[in-house]
This record gives sequence, C-alpha cells and structure tokens, in this order.
Amino acid sequence: MNKKTFKDVEVTGKKVLVRVDFNVPIDENGKITDDNRIRAALPTINYLIHHGAKVILVSHLGRPNGMVNPKYSLAPIAKRLQELIKRPVKMATDTIGESAKKLTNEMENGDVVMLENVRFYKEEEANDDGFSKDLASLADIFVNDAFGTAHRAHASTAGVARYLPAVAGFLINEEIVSLTKAVEEAQVPFVVILGGAKVSDKIGVIAKLIKKANVLLIGGAMAYTFIVAQGGNIGMSRYEADKVEVAKKILEEAEKLNVKVLLPVDVVVAEEFKPDAATKVVDAYQIPEGYQGMDIGPKTIKLFKAEIKKAKTIVWNGPLGVYEFKKFQKGTKKVAKAVAKTSAVSVVGGGDSVAAITELGYANKVTHLSTGGGATLKFLEGGILPGVEVLEDKK
Ligand code: 3PG
Repeated sequence: MNKKTFKDVEVTGKKVLVRVDFNVPIDENGKITDDNRIRAALPTINYLIHHGAKVILVSHLGRPNGMVNPKYSLAPIAKRLQELIKRPVKMATDTIGESAKKLTNEMENGDVVMLENVRFYKEEEANDDGFSKDLASLADIFVNDAFGTAHRAHASTAGVARYLPAVAGFLINEEIVSLTKAVEEAQVPFVVILGGAKVSDKIGVIAKLIKKANVLLIGGAMAYTFIVAQGGNIGMSRYEADKVEVAKKILEEAEKLNVKVLLPVDVVVAEEFKPDAATKVVDAYQIPEGYQGMDIGPKTIKLFKAEIKKAKTIVWNGPLGVYEFKKFQKGTKKVAKAVAKTSAVSVVGGGDSVAAITELGYANKVTHLSTGGGATLKFLEGGILPGVEVLEDKK
C-alpha cells in the first residue's frame, strides 16, 4: 500500500483520533453477537497504547439517521473493548461536545477514550466541513483503521483528514494487502463464490472478477435472477426483475471467457418467509407456485463443494441462503466448512459469510477474514475508497 501508516508518524504523547468500524451486530438484549470487528482493531489500538499515545476512538453503529438514539450507543462496545485490552476505556456521552472535550483534555499517555456514535450527528454522513474541523480539534493525528467504512466519504472517515496529518491503521493496511494479493496473485483454479440478496450489489465485482476467475458459484437470492434469465420457474422466490438482462449478459460474458458458472440445481423452499416454515427440496428451475427458495439444496452443496475442493484461490462474499433464519443456514455453513478445509488461499468477506466461518470455529482456517461488507466489494471491483484516498502518500 502506498499510504503512510501509524508506524510512519511519532505518536508518543500525541492525541490520536482513530476511526474504527465498531458497527457490530447487537441482539435485542444488547449483547454483541460477533466481535470480529473490535478484535480486528486491537493491533492498532494496542500499538498506540504501548507507544504512549492518547487514543481517541470514533465509530458509527447502525444507521441512527443523524439523531441521538440510545439503542445505537457505543457504550456496550466500550465495555467489550475494555475486556479485550484489559484497561479502562472512558466513554464520552457525545462526540464533539462538552463530554468529548473534557475527557480528551484529561487524558494521560496510554489512555483510551471512546466517543459516542458519530452518526448521532447528521453532519457526519453529510461530510460537513465544520463538523470535521470540530472532530479534528480533539486530536493531533488521525489514524483511519475503519476498513469496513472506508467506502463512505463521511466527516470521520474522510473530512477530518483535511485538518490533521492522516495515516492508515494496521487493519486498513492488512485488508488492502491481503485482498490485493488474493486477486492479483490468484492461482488456478480461482473460485469465486457469491451469495446474498441482490445481483445489483455484486455487478461490479462480477464484472471485475470474471476476467480472472475460472469458476463462479452463485447462491442466495441473487441466484434466482440468473435462473429467470435462463428461463427457469422460480415460484414466489425473490429476484430482481430489472436485473434479468444484466444476469443474461454476465452469463454470456462468462461463456465467452470460458468461466464455469454454477447456479443452484436444487433448492430448499418454503411457502412462507418464516424462521420455522415447513420446507421441501425441489428442482431450482421448477419451483412450484406459492413456494420460495430459502437455501441451496443437497445436490447443489455437493456440486459447490467439489469445485471448492479443487480450488487454489477462493474469494467468497455473501450467504447462500436466508442466513438470519437458523433453519436455512445449512448451505452457507457447508460451504464455510468446505472453504475452511481446503489449503487454498481464501478470502471471505461480508457479515453472514464471516459469521458462518467464525461460528463454526474456522476463523483461523481461512487466509483472510475481511471486516468489510460493501467496502470489500467496492475494493474488489477496483473502486476508490475515499477513507483510504485521503490518507498521506508514502514518499
Ligand atoms: C458496514 O457494516 O458495512 C459498515 O460499517 C458501513 O455501514 P453502512 O453501510 O451503514 O455505511
């Protein structure tokens, strides 16, 4: 990466504003259900603490739409971070107000302060200049380590860099190096697995990776748009009518480039979109009226596994079924297991795919677990990440 990192600047005794992505899933009881993103920020935070910096953390959580909403407070995350770093994390009750100023002014070297959810201010997403300046005034240096939010040009990810020396954290550097390496140095067979709801989210990535991949495995609701493009009957399954032509073009392009595209051959269907819906397995191209696809079926799992087994490089983004319902996690989990069992270079991104790998205890079996959802896709499709662009170049 051609950007300066936190190791290129003197941090001892300095107030360092670190943008992290602590946008983690929290259940209805306020419990963090996946702390991967907090753990991923630890190398930067620990380095700064041990080098005597005053560490000021800023993040968003959820989409509170510029309004204060206690449901999206970062307080539970500060608590979790405190357990992980085994030292106090002082929680401010605002982001640029009296509480933030007071706590950051009282800091000693090695102290950690967490500011309240930056999206409680509408100025954050508007990348407001005055807000960026106020946020910057709390610190001497800006370290961006929020890879998951680097595709957003917001005040705390980009605007603040106008007012402070701005460098990358460990995670941003690690993500960019790992993702670049996996794709640029991909060994054949290079297998790309895509799932999730929308073809529209993945068009850019498909357009880019189809030129490099040998095999494309498609699951999740996005598969039904492709099945419609091939003339299949998908019953009540979710699909994007306005993307059928795009899907056709992708399939034609894949044929021209000799890329093998595997779509589901069988699917688990239900009459209702419910966690406990009664199910049956049917041909993916002949889904009965009144039924909708909820997961890939056993024959598809077998086909996908066979390709994964042969792979030397794997990039996977998106669940293969309705992952929020336990009953429809099987396809995603079987694929997670198959990916973890190969010796291929594997890169997994997107909340549900990463959750499947982590829940099964395979986190250390994949080469790189990306903390990005949209950011990873944006990066893989060759797009610009504003949160990285604004950082200082290495001389
Ligand atoms: C994510 O979860 O992808 C990031 O934290 C960005 O969140 P956003 O999509 O609400 O901007």
